[in-house]
Amino acid sequence: MKKLSTLAITLAMAISCHAENPTFTVDAGSPAGKVSPLLYGLMTEEINHSYDGGLYAELIRNRAFLDSANTPVHWSVVSNNDASATIALGPANSFNDKLTMSLRVAVTKASKTQPAAVANAGYWGIPVYPSTVFRAKLLARAENNFTSPVTVSIVSEDGRKVYATQKFSGLAKDWKKFEVTLKTRKVEPTAKARFAISFEQPGTVWLGMVSLFPPTWNNRPNGLRKDIMQMLVDLNPKFLRFPGGNYLEGDTIETRFDWKKTIGPIEERHGHPCPWGYRSTDGLGLLEFLEWCEDMKAEPVLAVYAGYSLKGAHVNPGPDLEPFVQEALDEIEYVIGDKNTTWGARRAKDGHPAPFKLTYVEIGNEDWFDKSKSYDGRFAEFHDAIKGKYPQLKTISSIGNEQPKNMHVTSRQPDMLDEHYYRSTDEFLRMSPDYARKYDRNGPEIFVGEWAAHEDGNIKPWSPGAKQQPPTPSMKAAIGDAAFMAAMERNADLIKMQCYAPLFVNVNPGARQWRPNLIGYDSISSYGSPSYYAFQLFSRNLGNEILAVTTSGSSIQGSATRDSRTGEIIVKLVNSQTNEVPVDIDIKGLTSLRSKATAIILAGKPEDTNSINHPRDIVPITRDLRSMKPKFTYKLPPYSIVVVKLKI
Ligand code: AHR
Repeated sequence: MKKLSTLAITLAMAISCHAENPTFTVDAGSPAGKVSPLLYGLMTEEINHSYDGGLYAELIRNRAFLDSANTPVHWSVVSNNDASATIALGPANSFNDKLTMSLRVAVTKASKTQPAAVANAGYWGIPVYPSTVFRAKLLARAENNFTSPVTVSIVSEDGRKVYATQKFSGLAKDWKKFEVTLKTRKVEPTAKARFAISFEQPGTVWLGMVSLFPPTWNNRPNGLRKDIMQMLVDLNPKFLRFPGGNYLEGDTIETRFDWKKTIGPIEERHGHPCPWGYRSTDGLGLLEFLEWCEDMKAEPVLAVYAGYSLKGAHVNPGPDLEPFVQEALDEIEYVIGDKNTTWGARRAKDGHPAPFKLTYVEIGNEDWFDKSKSYDGRFAEFHDAIKGKYPQLKTISSIGNEQPKNMHVTSRQPDMLDEHYYRSTDEFLRMSPDYARKYDRNGPEIFVGEWAAHEDGNIKPWSPGAKQQPPTPSMKAAIGDAAFMAAMERNADLIKMQCYAPLFVNVNPGARQWRPNLIGYDSISSYGSPSYYAFQLFSRNLGNEILAVTTSGSSIQGSATRDSRTGEIIVKLVNSQTNEVPVDIDIKGLTSLRSKATAIILAGKPEDTNSINHPRDIVPITRDLRSMKPKFTYKLPPYSIVVVKLKI
């Protein structure tokens, strides 16, 4: 009964037009341009615990004891009356010159029945899933013939429940690598667990690295979290911009993303301080970024360090810059060089003989911050070297049209400009109708490499006030996002790529530096914000031809594309009013449509949102439409983003 009445309403909406309604006219006569096939992609960097404590599936926090020079943070001793130990950091006799610190565990009292243990609680808890194999790796050595068996276990926070355990022996005076698996049985999933390493005899043991992985996406050994990868794949991204963002530049030249330090076995990676206030393990390094792209069937958009760091240091163009230009050329060779090149051979040795696809290389990030005004010269040097060796590659200037003209690169013509927009919903609603309308169609291509709407214009994403707000945005922000995405889609002949930023946030207290963020997670579950679903509506419903649209009134914004292979017309509409808005839609150039069509709707009150405990309050719903004609009225729900898919 309910179903019937819903159908009747949809039918009525589909056929009656009223003169006073806002109109949305789609010119289906001839397309206004081609939609860039790379339009929707992702941007990523280490921020808000995006990788360590996020996508990178490593579960042990401070696995190489390098997070603090003073104390073994995130490690503790588990002791009782019958078992005790002490722990301390020690640089002496370290595993190699990359893992320069190790953990000294002095077991003072222990027995087979009462072992002493050290424990790590991971990144806000170690997750436990039923019937799952975890892989542990330890680098260890012992002093004075200490030969105690070692037991590694995943246990509850109070240590009473053992979810999975494994014992090994063979400690020796020299460093040895131990690799074991631990399997859980039928257990209730929980994030309230920790990893314990226990010893049955008094003595001293040194740990150089402790690593623990759950199953990963595509079973890559140094791989990525499955649930988060699924969320990314569901966005159908065509490219991934990495490694930043600020993370590329680093606070200082020394702490830039120094790609050569991020490849090879994890025990060869020292890690480095990330500009967002914590240390990066570099576990997710250059090859992992590239394989991440491969796993999403997306293309890398590689940003290379270009001689400017966040605290203001810059490298002068000329001889001083040459080593950095060479570093970028080597990096590109690692990505696309064949196995006979130096860095292509290194990639093959690291496990990936086939070169990756690469079209775009971005030179630096947000170089308008460089007060020395050296970017024009730095860009020219990188551009010439890259084009000289790889004429097929396109270069991106990190200074776009949203920056004053006198900052733009003029000595060379960049193939593409990167624009960044962190604006409030109201600002996006105001700027979107005219966005890119006046851009020079013969000038550089446009990449909107970072953008996101926030709800309150007075609370900037980087301000302390943002920390008081939820980590992910509400429906209000999603409306601003959608208006801007519609604008980019209307100009998708010139706007070749666009990506929301930041992509990730660990929602635990103290984990984040920025809001809003597209996807939130803790150590065991993840969720999409309303903005995530808005992005998904846009990225998954897209034709390859732009259809020009005209709108009357300011209450709605939108875009339209057509799939030339199927003839399907995809209309996207954004209602920023808190009341229902009936829109008279006119698909000009068509005399008929198939009766059946589909509407996908994301709607809610401005303050409605999703969260780690309520992950699906705001999700799209799909409705069938019937009796469609080229002219029809559609009632946009209050505060909604609607995709109407029309078939011919
Ligand atoms: O997305 C967060 C930061 O915003 C990026 O690291 C930086 O490029 C921009 O300022």
